[in-house]
Amino acid sequence: MSVVLARRWGIDEEKCLVAALLHDIAKPFPKDQQAEMLRDCTVKPVTDEDRRHPSLWHGMLAAQEGATRWGIGDPDVLDAVIHHSTGRRGLGEIGMVLYIADFTEPSRHWAGVEQVRAGVLSKTIGDAAREVAQRKLERLQEKGREAHPHTSEMAEWLNPDHGKGE
Ligand SMILES: [Fe+2]
Repeated sequence: MSVVLARRWGIDEEKCLVAALLHDIAKPFPKDQQAEMLRDCTVKPVTDEDRRHPSLWHGMLAAQEGATRWGIGDPDVLDAVIHHSTGRRGLGEIGMVLYIADFTEPSRHWAGVEQVRAGVLSKTIGDAAREVAQRKLERLQEKGREAHPHTSEMAEWLNPDHGKGE
């Protein structure tokens, strides 16, 4: 899905492919192992908010594994992997492709995904990312789960009412 989107928007396909291959590499690790690995995480400063969202740790840890075990030094790729679930204010294009692909890829089965998946291909990358950000916030609300601040900031940043890129 990342490569399809990268090609669609003329973005570096190889970087998008590497980010896609790497992004969930730490997801199968048990949570206690992830908590331990988080203490040695150097690819990003780990915040208290990060610590409160265990379901998001695997992105940081995948980037850490990529950087230390696999020699991946590209900051765009590592940033994309770190923020693949939440996005962040000012996320780059490689990060946006992974963020959109991760939410809409063919193994996702949430209600309405087919429509969103078909729709992103006809949108600009910014519009597609905005739709994903809004859908993510809606889904978290439905589940009664708290959004990581990066998730809210991503949606706010992409909302034209707030001025894109500000
Ligand atoms: Fe993930």
